Amino acid sequence: MMDIQLRKATKSDWDFILELRNNDFQYFYEQNSPIPKEAHYQYMENHVNDSNFHQWIISHEGNDVGYVRILNEDVGIMVKKEAQGKGIASKALDLLEREAVNLGIKKLVALIHPKNQSSEKIFKKNGYDLKLYRFEKKLTD
Ligand SMILES: CC(C)(COP(=O)(O)OP(=O)(O)OC[C@H]1O[C@@H](n2cnc3c(N)ncnc32)[C@H](O)[C@@H]1OP(=O)(O)O)[C@@H](O)C(=O)NCCC(=O)NCCS
Repeated sequence: MMDIQLRKATKSDWDFILELRNNDFQYFYEQNSPIPKEAHYQYMENHVNDSNFHQWIISHEGNDVGYVRILNEDVGIMVKKEAQGKGIASKALDLLEREAVNLGIKKLVALIHPKNQSSEKIFKKNGYDLKLYRFEKKLTD
């Protein structure tokens, strides 16, 4: 049995979360360059009192290896590159679901890049159904 746990993220985790955000953003929605620390901190500050924002650090055998958050019903998850491919995200989504139920959240949604195969896999594996394709056309920069 894999030793994966979720613990509530606090301000002391913000740098680690930034590291994750800047480590592997290839398939992020509208993020195609590293986020400056100030912008990240501002984003986190803005959500400190947001009762619809819930965030956890994923730990594996006592080490911080990832991050998962719910914003309204939207799930975001990141696992350190070195720790990927071991089933950590999949297990973390299972734990997340229990947290969400305890918080009274009725539905979870994952918006993922169409080429993000590992992400597609973990959500499918955890019982998420594909409900729509989303097309966009940018008219100005
Ligand atoms: C998406 C992400 C969280 C998955 O984390 P992880 O801990 O590696 O996930 P798991 O190990 O639980 O599962 C990954 C699955 O994808 C598979 N996979 C990995 N790379 C793959 C690829 N290039 N093509 C197809 N499948 C792939 C793995 O084999 C595994 O499948 P399996 O369980 O059938 O073996 C991680 O890759 C990540 O942090 N990516 C960057 C951030 C991101 O894109 N987040 C998603 C936005 S919500």
